[in-house]
Amino acid sequence: MILAHYYQEGAIQDIADFIGDSLELSRQAAGTDAEVIVFCGVHFMAETAKILSPAKTVLIPDLDAGCSLADACPADAFAAFRAEHPDHITVSYINCSAAVKAQSDLICTSSNAVALVKQLPADRPILFGPDQNLGRWVQSQSGRELTLWPGSCIVHETFSEQALLQLKLEHPQAEVLAHPECQQHLLDLADFIGSTSALLRRSGASSASSFIVLTEPGILHQMRLQLPGKTFFEVPGADGCSCNACPYMRLNTLEKVWHCLETLSPAIELEEQLRLNALAPIQKMLAMSA
Ligand code: 13P
Ligand code: SF4
Repeated sequence: MILAHYYQEGAIQDIADFIGDSLELSRQAAGTDAEVIVFCGVHFMAETAKILSPAKTVLIPDLDAGCSLADACPADAFAAFRAEHPDHITVSYINCSAAVKAQSDLICTSSNAVALVKQLPADRPILFGPDQNLGRWVQSQSGRELTLWPGSCIVHETFSEQALLQLKLEHPQAEVLAHPECQQHLLDLADFIGSTSALLRRSGASSASSFIVLTEPGILHQMRLQLPGKTFFEVPGADGCSCNACPYMRLNTLEKVWHCLETLSPAIELEEQLRLNALAPIQKMLAMSA
């Protein structure tokens, strides 16, 4: 089964059996009968699939497809952060390594973070990592105070507020859709905030005919395919750079997918005890967001 995240290049999305956001892809990985999963996304996503489905062969087109959030949250530093707050419940965004998941009480994705945090006991303080922008948004939506790990996504931090304001001036009727990994000053200018799947659903359900999209532009491929009558604008980084494309996601190419299928490599491997420790908070997430 070929799974693809919405941030993959259009050609990969076009050959995938299933395209989704992080939560939907985890569910697919957990539920499929296929013996081999080619996970077209970044490492933590394929690793989550392996944690959920250890008997399956889980391949990733490029093993170096990391994530700035996961890379900037080393397990030992996270353990020290937790040790400073021993009475806290640890909620970790799925964009982290298995070693960080293994230390967490609960995993969340951008699509269920608010709902999950709201379900946590009101008398327990909460640690949230590794994305401080998502954490601040969850805080504002859930009414719970979170102690935040100071990480961020290099892609969602590049969007230029000036370019966004310029697009809003040029297209005053356009609805602004934003991923919660964006910085607060950009989220303040958004009409709708949600995960990649939520943004796609919103663009279909909204009466607006044009949208300014503050997330990785891979999602525009699906938006344009599914809604050919609507117009979508991507927001560039400062100086008009194309740094809004995730450099990790874009390491995967159609050629590398083909290579995976031919050679059944590179495969994700995990030490069993680490897998079991990381599995518990993921299963809790799936149960709580069923
Ligand atoms: P989603 O939860 O929308 O899949 O987001 C994943 C991600 O990596 C965003 O940068
Ligand atoms: Fe990680 Fe950001 Fe790329 Fe998502 S867009 S995979 S959070 S670096």
